Amino acid sequence: MPETPAKHPRIRSIEGYHEAYHLSIHHPEEFWASVAAPFTWRRKWDKVMSSDMASGHNTWFEGARLNITENCLDRHLASRGNKLALIYEPNDPKTRHLRLTYRELHQEVCKFANVLHNNGVEKGDRVCLYMPMIPQLAIAVLACARIGAVHSVIFAGFSATAIADRVNDAQATVVLTADGLNRGAKQIPVKRVVDEALETCSSVRRVIVVEHLGWPVHMEEGRDVWYHEEAADVPKTCPAEEMDAEDPLFILYTSGSTGKPKGVVHSTAGYMVWADYTFRNVFQVEENDVYWCTADVGWVTGHSYLLYGPLLAGSTSLMFEGIPTYPDAGRFWEVIDKHSVSIFYTAPTAIRSLMAAPLDNVLSYSLDSLRVLGSVGEPINEEAWYWYYQHVGKERCPVVDTWWQTETGGIMISAMAGITPSVPARAGLPLPGVLPVLLNQDGSEIEGNDQEGYLAIKQSWPGILRTTYGDHERARQTYFAPYPGYYFTGDGARRDENGLYRIIGRVDDVINVSGHRFGTAEIENAINQNPHVVESAVVGYPHDVKGQGIYAYVICHEGAVGKEADKVHIEASIIETIVAEIGKIAKPDKIQIVTGLPKTRSGKIMRRILRKVAEGETSSLGDTSTLLDPAVVDEIIAGKK
Ligand code: PRX
Repeated sequence: MPETPAKHPRIRSIEGYHEAYHLSIHHPEEFWASVAAPFTWRRKWDKVMSSDMASGHNTWFEGARLNITENCLDRHLASRGNKLALIYEPNDPKTRHLRLTYRELHQEVCKFANVLHNNGVEKGDRVCLYMPMIPQLAIAVLACARIGAVHSVIFAGFSATAIADRVNDAQATVVLTADGLNRGAKQIPVKRVVDEALETCSSVRRVIVVEHLGWPVHMEEGRDVWYHEEAADVPKTCPAEEMDAEDPLFILYTSGSTGKPKGVVHSTAGYMVWADYTFRNVFQVEENDVYWCTADVGWVTGHSYLLYGPLLAGSTSLMFEGIPTYPDAGRFWEVIDKHSVSIFYTAPTAIRSLMAAPLDNVLSYSLDSLRVLGSVGEPINEEAWYWYYQHVGKERCPVVDTWWQTETGGIMISAMAGITPSVPARAGLPLPGVLPVLLNQDGSEIEGNDQEGYLAIKQSWPGILRTTYGDHERARQTYFAPYPGYYFTGDGARRDENGLYRIIGRVDDVINVSGHRFGTAEIENAINQNPHVVESAVVGYPHDVKGQGIYAYVICHEGAVGKEADKVHIEASIIETIVAEIGKIAKPDKIQIVTGLPKTRSGKIMRRILRKVAEGETSSLGDTSTLLDPAVVDEIIAGKK
């Protein structure tokens, strides 16, 4: 008798949550074995988990063999072959949208995989993608996974220098791109940006270009090929490469408090189980849902909750090329009505930017199809939470405020829609498998409720990052060494009187701008490349729409700044440098040219003071007597932007 396939476990009640949570923490192997059972495995695991939080070596489902795309695509073909897998909504509402069924997506992924093969891509090779939010991006990501190549998507807003840094770090052999991209009213010649980046990337031997806007582009002889030409007569099937559970699936670069962005590595089986389990349970997904995550595939949210989570669960996922305010501030709501979206997942910064527009923009749409709302990327303030709940969810849709990170692979702390408590400005309870703790500065655990501390995770979970690419020591130092025995998140949090977690924000030198992470050191390094600049210090400050804005204090060479006109010129030149080094997304909101920075006698910049000034809290600067030159502070306050 054939075995009846086990069903993916779903939590349906608060009691069910407590039961699952208890089992997951006290008997993780038993718990995760049952969660993993329903997937398609070529070979089952020998051991569910092994974990060494001191060294940061964590493995899940060791010994298992699988291919994630068989789980995202092939296994749905029999029962969901004609179900929509992907809906593509283009930037311009007048352009036709596109729908792909599971069968069609499977075929497109196989074709792209064959093109990659024909162009010499082998299992384990790194492939970088710098592409618009079009179906071919989703297809290309899955095609890499199909043949066991490690994908590394670079958000198509980063500069040529930032691309080169990532391509070189990953030693990618192939880059996938397009002729150009649309984003709102703007168009970006992405192929030209890639060409510039590759001038300093010797590892790349092939660039595959997808035709999107029909723009003429330079094609480098011997290196560049058009996708449509390569795909003209490739087979529509492609066997899936058998991967080890712990083989890397992707690298995603993310900023930290020091140095250049690091390549966070996720593995195959653990990530798959985590993305699927968290997706189904947090959003309480049903078979007929139309699910829309507005994140770009260039960020982790796009990986886990636009592509992998929804496809693993056999859902219909909507992919949007545009921005919330193009052609007007009603676009999100128009798209929801047009495609009958039932689950909507976006970022607080988008909500805040739409709140600023007249309410008619949202009230003129029915939004009847909506059932669940989600938020991700930064703390959602109460005002935005209520606006979202009232005007978008019409007070009938639970809001799930999902806290997680690139490094965690998937959602860690969040309400489960309609099941666990959803309270404004609280991420809520940890998901099964997640054991959060609050730590004191000395690393001791803070017991009890109504407490605040550094947020750390005490037990391994399937989606935990495996390493930072090419440099495990960096991963150990960043995440596992600060508080031995714990994964350190870099966030501060409060556990309220009911045990719900509220995320306060980063406690390290990371700024969260519109849900995107930047290290202050990373932006300072960029600013310091400018020939006028001697030194700089960057801090975050509260920003109405972006959550945090970037405030840069800059010391210029003597004589560079005389008149006001010089300042304007230098500020523009600094912005140009940042755009070239990182990209437009890292443009400071304010630049203040100063003659000195507040430093201790040992030369350390006192960022606390700079932060207070940027926040406009100059009456509570604290002790400035240890400064080398306290007069600097008065000058900075006087010149505040
Ligand atoms: O500070 C937290 C914030 O975003 C950081 C992670 O950023 P990234 O790796 O880019 O991933 C963003 C998408 C998961 C966290 O350290 N953050 C993320 N979600 C929330 C949040 N802060 C508060 N509430 C959230 N729901």
